[in-house]
Amino acid sequence: MTTLTTAPAPGTPDATAVTATTAAAVLDLPPVLPVVGGDTLVPLVDGRRVGYANLDVAASAPALQAVADRVARVLPLYASVHRGAGYLSQVSTALYETARRTVGAFVGAREDDLTVVTRNTTDSLNLLAGCVPADPVTGEPGRVLVLDIEHHANLLPWQRVTDATVVTGGPTVAATLAELDAELRAGAAEGRPYALLALTGASNVTGEALPVEEVVAAAHGAGARVVLDGAQLVPHRRFSLSETGVDYVAFSGHKTYAPFGAGALVGRRDWLDVGTPYLAGGGAVRRVRAAATDWHSGPARHEAGSPNVIGAVALAAACDELAALDPQQVRAHEDALRRRLVSGLGGLDRVEVVHVWDDAVDPVGVVTFTVAGYDPGLVAAYLSAEHGIGVRDGRFCAHPLLGRLGFDAGAVRASVGLGTAGEEVERLVAAVRALVTEGPRARYDVVDGLWVVVDDPRPVPEGSGLEGLLATAALGADEAFGCLPGDV
Ligand code: ALA
Repeated sequence: MTTLTTAPAPGTPDATAVTATTAAAVLDLPPVLPVVGGDTLVPLVDGRRVGYANLDVAASAPALQAVADRVARVLPLYASVHRGAGYLSQVSTALYETARRTVGAFVGAREDDLTVVTRNTTDSLNLLAGCVPADPVTGEPGRVLVLDIEHHANLLPWQRVTDATVVTGGPTVAATLAELDAELRAGAAEGRPYALLALTGASNVTGEALPVEEVVAAAHGAGARVVLDGAQLVPHRRFSLSETGVDYVAFSGHKTYAPFGAGALVGRRDWLDVGTPYLAGGGAVRRVRAAATDWHSGPARHEAGSPNVIGAVALAAACDELAALDPQQVRAHEDALRRRLVSGLGGLDRVEVVHVWDDAVDPVGVVTFTVAGYDPGLVAAYLSAEHGIGVRDGRFCAHPLLGRLGFDAGAVRASVGLGTAGEEVERLVAAVRALVTEGPRARYDVVDGLWVVVDDPRPVPEGSGLEGLLATAALGADEAFGCLPGDV
């Protein structure tokens, strides 16, 4: 192993500790687009401050600068949506409906598709679960087929509201496709056809996916529709309903660089027009009497209450930004980061990179791993406390998959996006290398089920007050968070 003594990655907590198998392995890649807070400092246990390496983009992606700019521009125009005669109410209504069209177009909505503005993917899939038609013969809840690789948002709504069958995936993409196909055919042959197949567009644990067109062909061949959980796909790959034949797609603004509380469900109108209104309340109804209510059709049916116009505008702004990029550039950027994570982490002793299938192609930038001898929670706490790196640990709201793969004790997940730089990935690889070769420098213990630093000298965010928390982002403020200035 060669120690790099020149050109250490900027922001590396201890520049002299950066090592790599070869100098050429160091990934020098700037972000594709600027994100808000990309230069935020965080404290380390040794008193220094470093740039925060946000490698938890799969959970919540930072806002694109362009999204924040658009929100700032429309805020002065903010007023009630669908409810006011005032001029700004009409402007806000137009902003909201324009955003709806932009979001639908971004995922290739067909002419007759509906775009419902929701809170996030979980919300969207719960909404759709209430619209799956009952079996026309028995009147029983509609049947839904789902794989055990799904995160809970694409599992629990079906279990609760529909007649859900959870299929255990196979060791390969090909085997898993064959299992789905067999189950779909069996349902049709037995006179109990599936109404819907719910599939992730990309696993939130490994970034892997099934080939969506093949799944659609199998489902449609058996009379089932397909809903794609696009939470991890839509922000990272160009996706089109009309081109793939997928019937519904759900995704989240907070994973699409627009963390203002909006997400979307886009897809076939007929089920949504007659399905159970998602929320009962104003805006979803044509007429209400004491004894009966006449519900709207269209998106309004599922959008009771005052719409989140700022969230919708933010999501549309993110869609505009992503649509303007060359999809190959996005893919190449995130793929380079992912490959470096897999090769860098996978090349370390005691580190295992998790995967579902041996033959998956084109995974998105999500890499999950374990470090033998270290609890995943400790690894995540160490990365934060000693290196200023944010990752997620645990079972990623995908308990069935983690259990099947033998990771019931959890794992660590790093995830990247448009705002991620190569040096952040290098920092993670160097930090995990330091962990397996030298161990952590601080002492850690479990308190209330969470790994924490013993006698952590860093300010506790919860007790820092608003000004203390805001100081975290104040570049150049030497006393931000009460820390001494350090290497950035
Ligand atoms: N599904 C989100 C994640 O993977 C919450 O982090």
